[in-house]
Amino acid sequence: MTNNKIYFIANWKMYGTLKSVQSLKTVIKLKKMQNYKNAKIIYCPPFTLLDQFYKKIKNTQIELGAQNCHFNFEFGPFTGAVNSKMIKNVGCKYVILGHSENRSSGESDKAINLKVKSCLKEKLKIILCIGETLKERRKNKTNHILKKQLINGLKNIKNKNNIIFAYEPVWSIGTGVVPKSQDLEKQVIQIKNFIKQKFRMKDPKVLYGGSVNPKNASILKQISSINGFLIGGASQNVNKFIDIVKKTIN
Ligand code: PGA
Repeated sequence: MTNNKIYFIANWKMYGTLKSVQSLKTVIKLKKMQNYKNAKIIYCPPFTLLDQFYKKIKNTQIELGAQNCHFNFEFGPFTGAVNSKMIKNVGCKYVILGHSENRSSGESDKAINLKVKSCLKEKLKIILCIGETLKERRKNKTNHILKKQLINGLKNIKNKNNIIFAYEPVWSIGTGVVPKSQDLEKQVIQIKNFIKQKFRMKDPKVLYGGSVNPKNASILKQISSINGFLIGGASQNVNKFIDIVKKTIN
């Protein structure tokens, strides 16, 4: 990784209780050290913990994000849903959108596009996830799928400054399998080139996500096109998460 800002986004998924808020102490302490000045650490716990997390991290260098939101910008009769205003209101600066776990349960590109628009209106920063399934990869459709997800997700969006991207091959999420370094480097360069050319973004940031752990972090960090990691399973264990940050930065 060459960029001076390296992202470490902790995606806790549907894990965590009030007790887990305590684990933040260790991360806050680490972030204060001069060595980790370039590490951009963003916690994305479930909705139920956002408020508690915010109380712990405000006035620190750690930032807060939500894992999703509803596409409706206004408040409304959507049982069980939370919109961009609500996540902003509890201290979020970021939001993960288009995660494959949501895409696979029916979230359409159109809904993702509306969510992007709603979050940008609230001045939230977006982590837009894209990725192909194993079946699509085997059929050599990876680039086609990634381009489609990008084009549809960002349809009619003029100002893309607040959007960063996460390339998460679906076959590597939670499986322990990570792409070969050369393949990943090539893929991320292709994604960046496409974003630059299609959306006229000068220096798009693309993170990698999928089974990042303390063991493979030292290998993955050598891939120069990547700007950081979106970390699921390993981020729920504070020691593993810290280990990933240390192995990447040192
Ligand atoms: P994983 O998840 O690190 O557990 O593979 C990554 C993600 O889904 O964002």
